[in-house]
Amino acid sequence: MSIFYDDQTKTFTLQTAQTTYQLQVDPWARLLHLYYGRRIGDDCMDGLYPAMDRGGFSPDYYETALQRGAASPDIRPQEYTGFNNGDFRVGCLEVTAPDGAAGADFRYTAHRIYRGKYTLEGLPSAYDADQEAETLILTLEDPVIGLRLELLYSIFSRQDMITRAARLTNCGVGDLVLDKAASICLDIPFGKWELLHFHGRHAMERQPERRPLMNGIQTVSSKRGASSHHHNPFLILCAPQTNEDAGDCFGAMLVYSGSYRMDVELDSLGLTRLTAGIHDELFRWKLHPGESFTAPEVLLTFTHRGLTALSQRYHHFLRYHMCRSKFTLARRPVLINNWEATFFNFTTEKILSIAEQAAALGVEMLVLDDGWFGKRDDDLSGLGDWQVNERKLPGGLNPLIEKIHRMGLRFGIWIEPEMVCEDSDLYRAHPDWALTLPGRKPAVGRCQLILDLSRDDVVDYLTEVFSKLLREHEIAYIKWDMNRNMSDVYSHTMPADRQGEVSHRYMLGVYKLLERLTTAFPDVLFEGCAGGGGRFDAAMLAYFPQIWCSDDTDAAERLTIQHGTSFGYPISAMGSHVSVSPNQQTGRSAPLGTRAVVAMAGTFGYELDLNTLTEDEKNEVREQIRFFKTHYELIQNGSYYRLAAPDEDAVIWQFVSQDDTEALVSLVLPQPHANPIPAHFALKGLEADARYRIEDFRIYGCRGQTPRAAWLFEREYSGAALMYAGLTLPQLFGDAPSAQLYLKKL
Ligand code: DGJ
Repeated sequence: MSIFYDDQTKTFTLQTAQTTYQLQVDPWARLLHLYYGRRIGDDCMDGLYPAMDRGGFSPDYYETALQRGAASPDIRPQEYTGFNNGDFRVGCLEVTAPDGAAGADFRYTAHRIYRGKYTLEGLPSAYDADQEAETLILTLEDPVIGLRLELLYSIFSRQDMITRAARLTNCGVGDLVLDKAASICLDIPFGKWELLHFHGRHAMERQPERRPLMNGIQTVSSKRGASSHHHNPFLILCAPQTNEDAGDCFGAMLVYSGSYRMDVELDSLGLTRLTAGIHDELFRWKLHPGESFTAPEVLLTFTHRGLTALSQRYHHFLRYHMCRSKFTLARRPVLINNWEATFFNFTTEKILSIAEQAAALGVEMLVLDDGWFGKRDDDLSGLGDWQVNERKLPGGLNPLIEKIHRMGLRFGIWIEPEMVCEDSDLYRAHPDWALTLPGRKPAVGRCQLILDLSRDDVVDYLTEVFSKLLREHEIAYIKWDMNRNMSDVYSHTMPADRQGEVSHRYMLGVYKLLERLTTAFPDVLFEGCAGGGGRFDAAMLAYFPQIWCSDDTDAAERLTIQHGTSFGYPISAMGSHVSVSPNQQTGRSAPLGTRAVVAMAGTFGYELDLNTLTEDEKNEVREQIRFFKTHYELIQNGSYYRLAAPDEDAVIWQFVSQDDTEALVSLVLPQPHANPIPAHFALKGLEADARYRIEDFRIYGCRGQTPRAAWLFEREYSGAALMYAGLTLPQLFGDAPSAQLYLKKL
């Protein structure tokens, strides 16, 4: 076993291949965090925290009052906090008893260690594919209010991943009210840390920002009812000297898609505390006696080997222990989506003409986007009415699907199940199915309201509507969109004292609906979307092996968006397409080759009318698809390395196959210079002693000029030469030229 309990010291030690996590029950039965970091063996580390009297401003527990400072919760590292008990740092919990007393103070009562992974009621969580996980469940009690706290840990030793969650149960006789219930607290008592987080906005998601921690609390959060474009529920704490290749870093990824908060506090004694969980604003959960509340999972990792190693751990873990779709590791189709080609304005003939051209070039699936149902000629109306719009598609979907199949393509379709337009039959029949505050006009986003998925009847209705769609049509792929953030949170069937549960119950309803549909239709590939990457999180990956990364398809902007996304999420999860030039979101032009190089750092597909291309361009597309299919395994299932970031002159990334025998380097030069510093890069992840041959070197967008670079054509180098001396590119010309270099081990 990799989880040990030492009865002498009352210490729990969790070992993974390269990390150690340690906790201890102190003499007063409180649970302390002792250590998380590089693997240290089984030594008990309680000596790290000598008792120190900090005076009355960090009070002691009543029973330790005379041993001043021995156990003050304000000073010692906590594993999960109590409430109103003298720990003044950011806390995990706010709870009120029936007599109005707001407070909690937990004592350890029991633990359980077993092989396998815990599961969480109603919430997606990691699974144990290879019977590798071990679980520790610690039980703590507050006997005064009858609140039980279970702290859940599963360790995946080979992956160096620790999953954590928390469950609160009312074991008393009166109702308890939770105003905050975080998933984890992680105290890091020593060291200086920087916060690397991923902020942004619509069409500009997951922009990395790194800054030293300041004294006080810094928050990464969303109050939008979605994990959001604006702040991803994933952060990294890294030592100041940490770079891609070396240095200490912790990762924390919340497995949740609704409003959340992750607080990082640097306290007055230099201790760093991280808490993560559901956002406490608009949250109030009533726990009747016997009821439990489960806080979502957090995926924790630590490495001393830098940011690339940390990212690769998350990539692997999400693909093998979170994504459950059978398509996750399988070869997925190259698709064409009609959205940027037609928007709402299409006919059967138009769709068929796009499909026909796509099929001729090697595309494998056509996806019909928004506008195929109800009264939906723009975004003012129609959501909720999932009957085919026969004016656009006479005879319904089946005749269209048949014709598409005859071209040798599969068929996929767009849906937005969670929304309703005021101008829809569904809303007219069930106005109370939307989240709206009584007596107020709701805030309206994209002319749509949010269906109340906290209600079982609404979830049942949607289950039937979309099951019918999938039963009655041969649909191979669903794009599940969600195009507004949540306001007016109020459910018309929930009692007044439970309205604070609505936004989380909404998420539980979304997960229930997703669970039902993905289980009932396992052969359908589901792609997530929320106006692009507005819900790009680990919980969504449990249902969607791929998520549309951004509504911004401009290749230059995608470089940053996809680079930022890659810190936590795998390439195989990033929906990415080649779109038209000039780009529709920015008006910027980019060569067709560069657009494809960027889209190949994702699931790869097209989103333009291929009929508008010249014959040369069509041939180029044909070749792009052939190239992508040839290197599919390497790109989707290989290890990903960031060689140069978007703030450098050239943006460079690399894939290495799992057996180290192949590598693909891709490079984009957003702004070529007249007198450039040559783009130099060192490859990574190769075998130093092996020899590699450059089998393929391609340059795109150089305005017809093929630079002389004999050293890159069909040359052989040792892995050591490629990794330590590196390669230099010739000068590239044009608007955002790019290059690809494919190497094979001899
Ligand atoms: C937002 C998505 O991100 C787009 O790709 C497209 O599907 C539109 N919604 C359709 O309304």
